[in-house]
Amino acid sequence: MLEGKKVNLRVMEKEDLPLIAEWFSSPEVFGEYNTLRQMSKTEAEKMFESPLELKTFIIEKKDGNKIGFVGHFYVLHPAARQLEIGYVLLPSERGKDYCTEAVNIMVDYLFLSKESRRIQAQTDLRNVASQKVLEKVGFKKEGTLRKNFFRRGEWRDTYLYSILREEWKEPKILTKTVQHQ
Ligand SMILES: CC(C)(COP(=O)(O)OP(=O)(O)OC[C@H]1O[C@@H](n2cnc3c(N)ncnc32)[C@H](O)[C@@H]1OP(=O)(O)O)[C@@H](O)C(=O)NCCC(=O)NCCS
Repeated sequence: MLEGKKVNLRVMEKEDLPLIAEWFSSPEVFGEYNTLRQMSKTEAEKMFESPLELKTFIIEKKDGNKIGFVGHFYVLHPAARQLEIGYVLLPSERGKDYCTEAVNIMVDYLFLSKESRRIQAQTDLRNVASQKVLEKVGFKKEGTLRKNFFRRGEWRDTYLYSILREEWKEPKILTKTVQHQ
């Protein structure tokens, strides 16, 4: 368990898969700037066992309520050590800084546990909430990837953001965990 002040990140377990399938299949939860898709529990299980090293953490409030997820995966081959993150929060829990804290925890965790020099993220050009989350955590906008993501019937441009290890400098949230190790 990775502990923050308002939220914790807990590694997704098989028991979470029905909920994950429900969230992936809900246009409201996944948001208007993500792929419209329908995912069965069986497909969620396949994703869980994927060799792509996609790793998902459930975002939980301090009372244990599950309010979203943040995941990371290798952009190319794991040997290239290029990490990308993605995140989703339930609509009723947005705008309370939970996602910003979850991304801060994820960035701390990745730089502390992996040798990667950069972590990247992509957002639809119109997804201002997501861009604000990244900027608050210290990500910088690198540029626009043209027509690289198919969403809701059209190819969309995305902004590519990244944070480098030297920009991160030190853990922001996981300092307590580090002292205890
Ligand atoms: C992106 C998402 C995770 C952000 O979650 P969140 O809980 O709202 O994030 P936070 O509260 O930590 O921060 C959001 C910031 O964006 C701002 N914001 C939210 N909606 C906005 C909008 N439509 N226009 C401008 N700013 C907006 C908030 O005010 C806040 O900024 P502030 O702290 O300066 O006030 C959430 O909107 C979501 O799950 N969307 C659907 C899935 C998605 O798009 N995921 C990202 C894929 S790249």
